[in-house]
Amino acid sequence: MARILTGIQSSGKPHLGNLLGAIIPAIELSKNEKNESFFFIADLHSLTTIKDAQTRIDNIHSVAAAWIACGFDTEKNLFYRQSKVPAVCELAWYLNCYTPFPMLANAHSFKDKSEKLADVNAGLFTYPVLMAADILLYDANTVPVGKDQKQHLEMARDIASSFNHQYGDTFILPDAKIDENIMTIPGTDGQKMSKSYGNTIDIFQTDKKLRKNVMQIITDSKPLEEPKDPDTCNVFAIYKILGSDTQVADMRNNYEGGNYGYGHAKQALYELIVEKFADVREKYDFYINNIPELESKLQAGESRAAEIANSVLNRVRSKIGY
Ligand code: ADP
Ligand code: TRP
Repeated sequence: MARILTGIQSSGKPHLGNLLGAIIPAIELSKNEKNESFFFIADLHSLTTIKDAQTRIDNIHSVAAAWIACGFDTEKNLFYRQSKVPAVCELAWYLNCYTPFPMLANAHSFKDKSEKLADVNAGLFTYPVLMAADILLYDANTVPVGKDQKQHLEMARDIASSFNHQYGDTFILPDAKIDENIMTIPGTDGQKMSKSYGNTIDIFQTDKKLRKNVMQIITDSKPLEEPKDPDTCNVFAIYKILGSDTQVADMRNNYEGGNYGYGHAKQALYELIVEKFADVREKYDFYINNIPELESKLQAGESRAAEIANSVLNRVRSKIGY
């Protein structure tokens, strides 16, 4: 059985791009009987940037509610907050003492910000070490991540193998799983959907607000009667990802036939989203309004995670004489 582990940033309420590009594919991977998945909310990493306590709490809850609503089975797998298993901080300290300074100075995540060193906190600098601890603490075999995290995974392997070299086999060397074919979901302006571009579709809001959100998708101003090109339209770009083959073929005919306005296409997209995500939206609302239910699922994962973490940590402590 392969142990799959990944950290999820709690940077805000998940949007349609996060669901289709990250959450749903990861949940699919976790359904494979041969895998055991450890998914955690990287809320200690988020402290490098987010300082407001209430924002952190709200982000954690909306990320957790989204994963559970999308069908992540928290009983078969492990779902936990990084901060609730503080063993990771102890391991991160040990690993810090085996990590060469130049390795960290070379990390893209640090280098990108290093022109303004006064704004870089030490947490940001040692971010890759905490990430290595996240992985090594749970004997993970496979770590699915985006391309931007590839270097961090290489560092985790380097840190683990130099420790193993010095003390004998202690850590499992994790393999990165980088899916190059993951779809990029376009936002309301046609660029990659991202919180930082303000172009997201937030499916976890009321019908009325969701409809308004879909109506904001940017199109050209061709009049209703004129035939339209679906392949250059931001509405169609999202519709074709969600619709069935027949729905997409029908929509293409509507565009090309004329007498079909962008308002019609947006209404059809809105209805499709409501239909496809009815169950997910209902569950999300349930959990976000029943935080104790959400907490109890997280806490169950956290106590199981702590047991595994402590046994690995003991292995490390005894190797280095603590
Ligand atoms: P954002 O860009 O909105 O801040 P994050 O960087 O927090 O999103 O991304 C969280 C996860 O969702 C990552 O795995 C990322 O690859 C995925 N993701 C984000 N936006 C998209 C998108 N538009 N299409 C596909 N996947 C996405
Ligand atoms: N740094 C990762 C990101 O930004 C999140 C993360 C933290 C992570 N710890 C991890 C991912 C351990 C995989 C394994 O997406």
